[in-house]
Amino acid sequence: MPFAFRNGALCANNVPLADIANAVGTPVYVYSWPDIRDAQQRLARALRDIDHGICYAVKANANLSVLARLAALGIGFDIVSGGELERVLRAGGDPAKVVFSGVGKSAAEIDFAIKCGVDAINVESASEMERVAARADLLGRSARIAIRVNPNVDPDTHPYIATGMTQSKFGVPPDQALALYRRAASAKALTVVGIACHIGSQIGRVAPFREALTALLALVDDIEAQGIRLQHIDLGGGFGVRYRDEQPLDVNALATALRREMAGRGLKLLLEPGRYLVAEAGVLLTRVEYLKPAPTPAHRSHAIVDAAMNDLLRPALYQAWHDVQPVARTNAVAQRWNIVGPVCESGDFLALDRELAVEEGALLAIRGVGAYGFAQSSNYNSRPRAAEVLVDEDGFAVARRRETPNDLLRLESIV
Ligand code: LLP
Repeated sequence: MPFAFRNGALCANNVPLADIANAVGTPVYVYSWPDIRDAQQRLARALRDIDHGICYAVKANANLSVLARLAALGIGFDIVSGGELERVLRAGGDPAKVVFSGVGKSAAEIDFAIKCGVDAINVESASEMERVAARADLLGRSARIAIRVNPNVDPDTHPYIATGMTQSKFGVPPDQALALYRRAASAKALTVVGIACHIGSQIGRVAPFREALTALLALVDDIEAQGIRLQHIDLGGGFGVRYRDEQPLDVNALATALRREMAGRGLKLLLEPGRYLVAEAGVLLTRVEYLKPAPTPAHRSHAIVDAAMNDLLRPALYQAWHDVQPVARTNAVAQRWNIVGPVCESGDFLALDRELAVEEGALLAIRGVGAYGFAQSSNYNSRPRAAEVLVDEDGFAVARRRETPNDLLRLESIV
C-alpha cells in the first residue's frame, strides 16, 4: 500500500507525510509517483492484446513533473486548451500522440495544434470543422481531425460530469455525423483520421462504454461505406475510482468488452483516462488551525484547517466525499467534526460530519485528490496556491513551490 501507516505515522511509500509537511509547509498536495505508474501499468496490462493508445487527460493533474514522467512512459495526452498543449510540449510529450478535445477551441489554439502536428483535433461542431479547415488552409497544411460524436448514453454519474447525453454541449448528434464526415473528406485542408466520444467521468460500469462503442462502430460502418477510411476510435476517459464505497471500474472487464467489439476492425483504440491514473495517488495535507466545538449538541463542531475550497473544490462543487485521516495517532477523543477552511463562504468545507480524533496543530490527509484537486484550485480570497510534492519510493521533491503574495500580484498594476 503506497499510502499506509508505518509505526503509527501515515506514509507515502516510505516517506512519512509529516516530514513533507514539516519541510514544505501546509497545505500541500503530495503525489506518489509509484502509484501513478502502477495505475498506468494496470491499464496497459488489461489492454495489452488490443491495438491501443493511452492519451492521459491533462486536465486531471497538469503538474509538469507528472506529465514528464508519463511522457517518459511513452503515453500520449488528451488536451483541451493551448495551455495544456504548451505543458505537454514542455514536459517532453510527443505531439503525434496528442488528441485535442473541447467545444470552444480558438483560432490561435487550432493554429498551434496544427503546427505541432497533433494526432487529431476532435471537432465538436460543424462550425468548428469549418474553422479548422480554414485555419489549416491559411497555414498551407492539412489538419488531422476526428469528429466527436455524442452517442446519447447515460453514464450514471454526477450531472456536472455527464457529457455524452443529447442535452449536453459536447459532440455532434450521431445523425449529423455522416454528413460532416462527407464534408471533411471533401475538404483539401482536412485529413480524416478517426471518430471520438467521451460520455462522462467517474463511471463505474462497463455497460455505458460498451453502449457508446457500439454506437460509434455503427457509424464507422456508415462512414466507411462512403469510402472514408478511419484509423482510430477514441472512446474518451471517465474510468471510475473508489473514493468511499463506489464500485470502481473493472478495467479487465472493460478490456474484455472492448476487445470483443474491436476484433477484426483494423482500428486503433484510443482512451483518455485522467482520474484513473492519478486520483488515488494524491493526498492534500492540511493542518488544524482551530477547533470550534458545537455550542449545543444540536449543532456541528468545526475543525478549521489551513486548506480551503480554493485548494480543493470538489466537496463544495459536487458534494464529493474524500476520506480524511489524521497523519499521526493522538490521544484526543474521537468525535464528529466538519472539516472546514478559512474561506468566507459557508460552502467552504472539505468534509462534513466525520468521526475523527483531532487536536489543534494536527495534520490531516485528505485522500483521493490526485485528480481534479490542484488542477481546480484557485486564488479565491487571495490565497496563494498550495505546493505540490512528488514522492518516489524513498524520497520526495517539490514539483511546484508554494505561491507567494508576490505571485498573486505579479500581473497587476494600479491604473
Ligand atoms: N476526455 C475528455 C474529453 C474529458 O472531457 C475528460 C474529463 C476526460 C477525458 C477525462 O475524464 P476522467 O478519466 O478523468 O474521468 N472535475 C470533475 C471531473 C471533470 C471531468 C471533465 N472531463 C471532478 O472533479 O470529478
